[in-house]
Amino acid sequence: MQDKIDLLKEKQAEALLGGGQKRIDAQHKKGKLTARERIHFLLDENSFEEIGMMVQHRSIDFGLEKERYLGDGVVTGYGTINNRLVYVFSQDFTVFGGSLSETHAEKICKIMDLAAQNGAPLIGLNDSGGARIQEGVVSLGGYADIFFRNVRSSGVIPQLSAIMGPCAGGAVYSPAMTDFILMVEHTSYMFVTGPNVVKTVTHEEVSSEELGGAMTHATKSGVTHFACANELETIATLKQLLSYMPQNCEEDAPALPYESSDETRLALNTIIPTNANQPYDIREVIEHVIDEGSFCEVHKLFAENIVVGFARLAGRSIGIVANQPAVLAGVLDIHSSTKAARFVRFCDSFNIPLLVFEDVPGFLPGTDQEWNAIITNGAKLLYAFSEATVPRITVITRKAYGGAYDVMNSKHIGADMNYAWPSAEIAVMGAKGAAEIIFKNEIATAANKDEKWKEKENEYQTLFANPYRAAERGFIDEVIEPSQTRIKLIKAFKMLENKVDKLPKKKHGNIPL
Ligand code: HXC
Repeated sequence: MQDKIDLLKEKQAEALLGGGQKRIDAQHKKGKLTARERIHFLLDENSFEEIGMMVQHRSIDFGLEKERYLGDGVVTGYGTINNRLVYVFSQDFTVFGGSLSETHAEKICKIMDLAAQNGAPLIGLNDSGGARIQEGVVSLGGYADIFFRNVRSSGVIPQLSAIMGPCAGGAVYSPAMTDFILMVEHTSYMFVTGPNVVKTVTHEEVSSEELGGAMTHATKSGVTHFACANELETIATLKQLLSYMPQNCEEDAPALPYESSDETRLALNTIIPTNANQPYDIREVIEHVIDEGSFCEVHKLFAENIVVGFARLAGRSIGIVANQPAVLAGVLDIHSSTKAARFVRFCDSFNIPLLVFEDVPGFLPGTDQEWNAIITNGAKLLYAFSEATVPRITVITRKAYGGAYDVMNSKHIGADMNYAWPSAEIAVMGAKGAAEIIFKNEIATAANKDEKWKEKENEYQTLFANPYRAAERGFIDEVIEPSQTRIKLIKAFKMLENKVDKLPKKKHGNIPL
């Protein structure tokens, strides 16, 4: 028996070396961890159980039969993060550049199936040169097998992708269909076609970093939700994100213990500037309302005119969507609408209640927005809120103008509770523009046009630039002193804890894509 055990140990040791020490050293030299080191830092100590360590590819073309590595370029298995089960695959760049062969794909599919059937999150640590070129169509088939499972698992279990190296061609589409993408700055990139192809086709000269680096996707395309300074920060962010999520769509997110104390937050009474056109940072409001230091902002550098992220309120996980008056006056545009819509849908898929802070002057006008379909894209946010069945609460801090009033989780589209601060202005449009339209003739025939305009603007302002017209109708449930916001929200979310709301029976809705 001992000789057989020795053989097993020998094979295990060989597998641990992946593509060999030389390639491991090269990986480290680039400032990258190996596939196994990443798993080591991600999972609770000694919790990793590997599946498929002895798998090898079956290729015989291009002399590949002579180049076989145990594990075939991906480490797969399960373990725990903070004692909660997760499934993980980690691509090993030291084996054929982490490229995806038929067997490599089979290993990933196996743990994707286990994750879906057992209701636990799937984490992909991506570091791959794409389809294994020597294998041809079986590699493409392998990608499609993964895509198919990503879609089948969407909304069933959380799926998170960390990009920790190159990610080209088909390799980008699996992460794109998962719930969150995290990229490592300077050592990872994502693109459908790399700089060489770009140069040939469009004659543009662009570096990999510029075309598809972490900052590019965090700021310009919004493909990545997080740009992390290094791999350890990426792993820490993965763990933090998971802490706000349930294991699957049937469960609630775990709550932290909470002891009630004085929940008054006087600082909230002085955040809104006296001048309604002056900006302020909505993050200040968020920080004063939520449990201290619990905000995990998602998509921080993209469409900064809206802020989204996870937080805790009295220990419970919530999703926050907030207009940001400090950027573009908090206006809704194409990117902010799609950013928020996707976040709302994630929270709704996984039973995470939604809290909305509203200060929005309306939709952004202009040809750029209209020609790029602000209608369709703005509708995504309207659709996402309307469809959400989780507890939903809105706090209007200042402006709630026009269509944006409807869209930002109004009572009319199913919000459970809507609060307004005394500073709220709820109307079809700003007083200046409104006066110009409805008093056009009066202004035109007045002796002093400017004076008349001002007078009418003031009239409209007094009548509508407050929360009371909406409260009169019940569109606002309560006008509250800002300092009481936290306690009101804690009580209201507790009251809504057992909410049951079901969508009409259907195959699926048809969100305006
Ligand atoms: C097989 C690959 C490979 C691949 C890299 N390698 N990519 N082997 N298939 N796709 C191997 C290299 O031969 C090398 O082997 C080792 O991995 C490391 O690669 P290097 O080039 O030395 O590393 P580096 O300089 O860091 O460059 C990494 C890279 C580059 C940028 C990923 O290798 C690259 O451009 N690869 C090809 C990318 C690509 O075009 N993939 C196909 C995309 S099409 P040795 O033995 O020297 O260690 C696609 C279609 C799917 O994915 C569509 C589905 C819808």
